[in-house]
Amino acid sequence: MYSFFTGLNACERKSFLFLRKELPVRLANIMKEIALLPENLLRMPSVGLVNQWYERSFEEIIEFEKMEPEPPVLTQFCERLVHIRNRHADVVQTMAQGVLELKESHEVDPGVENSIQYFLDRFYMSRISIRMLINQHTILFGEQLGARQASVNGMGNGGRHIGSIDPACDVSAVVRDAYENARFLCDRYYLASPELELLQNGSPSNGPMPIVYVPSHLYHMLFELFKNAMRAVMESHENSPPPIQVNLVRGREDVSVKMSDRGGGIPRSVSDLLFKYMYSTAPQPSKSDSHTVPLAGYGYGLPISRLYARYFHGDLVLMSCEGFGTDAVIYLKALSNEANELLPIFNRTSSKFYRTSPAPADWSAPVAPAHTCRRDKPSLSHKA
Ligand SMILES: Nc1ncnc2c1ncn2[C@@H]1O[C@H](COP(=O)(O)OP(=O)(O)OP(=O)(O)O)[C@@H](O)[C@H]1O
Ligand SMILES: [Mg+2]
Repeated sequence: MYSFFTGLNACERKSFLFLRKELPVRLANIMKEIALLPENLLRMPSVGLVNQWYERSFEEIIEFEKMEPEPPVLTQFCERLVHIRNRHADVVQTMAQGVLELKESHEVDPGVENSIQYFLDRFYMSRISIRMLINQHTILFGEQLGARQASVNGMGNGGRHIGSIDPACDVSAVVRDAYENARFLCDRYYLASPELELLQNGSPSNGPMPIVYVPSHLYHMLFELFKNAMRAVMESHENSPPPIQVNLVRGREDVSVKMSDRGGGIPRSVSDLLFKYMYSTAPQPSKSDSHTVPLAGYGYGLPISRLYARYFHGDLVLMSCEGFGTDAVIYLKALSNEANELLPIFNRTSSKFYRTSPAPADWSAPVAPAHTCRRDKPSLSHKA
């Protein structure tokens, strides 16, 4: 059984043998699914480019299929993984660009829209998982590469980390970090920003709250939620913006991070759209501004953050009172042995989704199809 927690008895050979099989499988699954996309989306130049990156990476890993796991090969493999990670760095934006190209050049009907939403969730989730595997291997076994990666992710803290996992990831420190960086953007756009009120179990606290987690994933979610909350607060309060409150609560099963803003909330009529890719009420950032980081504008913040939360069996939900404000809650698993990887399943049933039109809405709550996800072996657990 392969575990992300290989640090305790990390074995580069074993990891190599696992990855040279597992990575091509994950890449091939998603390539098969790309092939099922609507014809006119496949013809978009950016989608073609993404497809080529996947094909090339697949071929580059397959080359290791019959090689002996000896030191020169292991080093070469590590370098290859870094190269592949760099190649795929812009996949999210490029795929988003492909969908934009489609929307600008074609009328997109609701059936196609649904297929694209379904695909993007699976595609980005698969990407998160592939990056996680690559990061674990390169950070654990890549020597100098590992050190560099650690400093990129703000993880250079005395070797406590196991790959990209921090067994004592301090949620409150990540909250403050994400807040400061979002605040920096907010100050630039609005020349002011709301304060942060940090609570634990409802009482003011600056104490640590350690959990086993990947700090960069948690940071990603919090940074996106802060940007959204700050924008809403600043748009609804010209003077003296009310603070954003973050309450951290540790239960037996869940660690919950609840962010509450008084930014005027979201009407119920659009709540179903929040997790749709491309849904945004912000003006689209202009291409000439591509070197500056926008506070909002692509409509990818929420759906991708929810994938990060779900990847380790957590979740991200929004509740809003229009006219007042929004609560966003990130749920994380309190026990690391429950935080297994959640991966899309690729089989015939999933491919059917691309050919059937969406069921008409009825009054009952939709139930997620059982075939969409699988619980996999790798987990955050020490005991896995
Ligand atoms: N806290 C909030 N208060 C009010 N509206 C919100 C809040 N969070 C999200 N929204 C609404 O949901 C939309 C989608 O949010 P999302 O973060 O996915 O995309 P975005 O912020 O528009 O762009 P980006 O991809 O840059 O994050 C926002 O445009 C906004 O209208
Ligand atoms: Mg956003």
